[in-house]
Amino acid sequence: MQSLRVHLLGCGRMGSALARGWVASPRLRLSLSIEDPAPATDCRTFLVQNGAVFGPLSQPPDVLVLAIKPQAYPGSLSLIRPMARPRTLVVSIMAGITSAQLTAELGTGRVVRAMPNTPAAIGRGITSWVCAAGCDDGDLRHAQSLLEATGPAVRLNDEAELDIATAIAGCGPAYVFLLTEVLAAVGEARGLAPAIAASLARATVTGSAALMEARPADAPSALRHEVTSPQGVTAAALDILMASEDGLKVLMDRAIAAALVRSAELGAR
Ligand SMILES: NC(=O)c1ccc[n+]([C@@H]2O[C@H](COP(=O)([O-])OP(=O)(O)OC[C@H]3O[C@@H](n4cnc5c(N)ncnc54)[C@H](OP(=O)(O)O)[C@@H]3O)[C@@H](O)[C@H]2O)c1
Repeated sequence: MQSLRVHLLGCGRMGSALARGWVASPRLRLSLSIEDPAPATDCRTFLVQNGAVFGPLSQPPDVLVLAIKPQAYPGSLSLIRPMARPRTLVVSIMAGITSAQLTAELGTGRVVRAMPNTPAAIGRGITSWVCAAGCDDGDLRHAQSLLEATGPAVRLNDEAELDIATAIAGCGPAYVFLLTEVLAAVGEARGLAPAIAASLARATVTGSAALMEARPADAPSALRHEVTSPQGVTAAALDILMASEDGLKVLMDRAIAAALVRSAELGAR
């Protein structure tokens, strides 16, 4: 079987996570070329040792993966256009740049938009993806196998769903890290030594995530109930966090709404 020729444009945080997943995957058979003005040295060394080639393309690839910032995309179009032929599958992880835009600007209807998240860097990501109408079954298989090299890859129905998935899971690690920071900051402000507050917060978040993982049959709400005695200490805190008018759900909904607006702005450029 011939190997799939994949060209990765942009080897920053997310592009390098994908590339590491691809070269480590025993199921993928690909020849990988990568283009980035200044990839991190350790990452470049690892990828080259595992068969990737750095540099511009000599001929259009089977799959072109766009992992540059959306802000860099308009300025890179003259570089990208010659890489995409009508038969090229374009997989874009750029937030906010729509399939219609990519199809019109790159001249291929074989477009997949995907949204990984940063735990992909340790093979623990989750990726949501959608395909444009021009994709055939082979494109779908290629997209699925490339995207699941860094964790589960979930195909969604349309780009409206992808925007929501982006705001939830693409951005989600930042929300979890912020929760960790805030727990530590409040602990410190209430009198704990900074290092102790930081380690309590971090271990609580990672331990709770591990507990969720260890008990997949239990909903997060069931795990929450286990920590919450009626009229107890946790219940008092949750009354504030779960208040219907200004609790966490209201705040999170506002945050997701802001992410969706920004996503639309990026797509409208
Ligand atoms: N980070 C996340 O959590 C996340 C999650 C899901 C999706 N994404 C998407 O992934 C994309 C990349 O994000 P990132 O966080 O990985 O950004 P990043 O770390 O800045 O990586 C982008 C890389 O692309 C390079 N680049 C820029 N223009 C290029 C060009 N014309 N040709 C080749 N390489 C070029 C950049 O080089 P310079 O730095 O030298 O410009 C940089 O190394 C974005 O579109 C983002 O929406 C990110």
